[in-house]
Amino acid sequence: MKRAIYPGSFDPVTYGHIDIIKRSSKLFDELIVAVLTNKGKTTPLFLADERVNILNEVLKDLKNVRVLSYDGLLVDFAMEVDADVIVRGLRAVTDFDYELQMSQTNSVLNRKVDTVFFTTSLKYAYLSSSTVREVAAYGGDISKFVPPYVEKLTYEKFGKKGDK
Ligand code: PNS
Repeated sequence: MKRAIYPGSFDPVTYGHIDIIKRSSKLFDELIVAVLTNKGKTTPLFLADERVNILNEVLKDLKNVRVLSYDGLLVDFAMEVDADVIVRGLRAVTDFDYELQMSQTNSVLNRKVDTVFFTTSLKYAYLSSSTVREVAAYGGDISKFVPPYVEKLTYEKFGKKGDK
């Protein structure tokens, strides 16, 4: 049984994340999408429970994908759920420094854990959750960035109507 973990803030989940989840879930028996509960001092748009519920909804057709939340060190959580592979997406060279540092830190913290990188599909290379939040905050169209369910909830957070 090969289990991998795909961690992130997912605030909110985008089509870019979903693309990585679909592609990586084909390589493992089980993929755990792990939502970090508290990231630093920044207040998230969605509470951790909301992000987990949203992910469960948009990933419901992927039978070998499970959504969980974690707090604390990622490598500790990976051990807790018996996963020794971390999946991350690389969009552009600008992601590389941060991702390399994170993967090397994680492997120093726990040698058993390896990181596997997926290059994001060209279609979603520009996309990030922070872009989605910013566009939605000004009432812009986010339908190309997130599924309709996420679009509706994101507009609601900003008190915008959207058309869904
Ligand atoms: O989607 P993000 O916000 O870029 O994901 C970053 C995340 C959540 C994977 C990372 O910040 C994390 O796992 N933090 C938990 C604390 C930790 O393990 N830090 C050590 C690695 S730098």
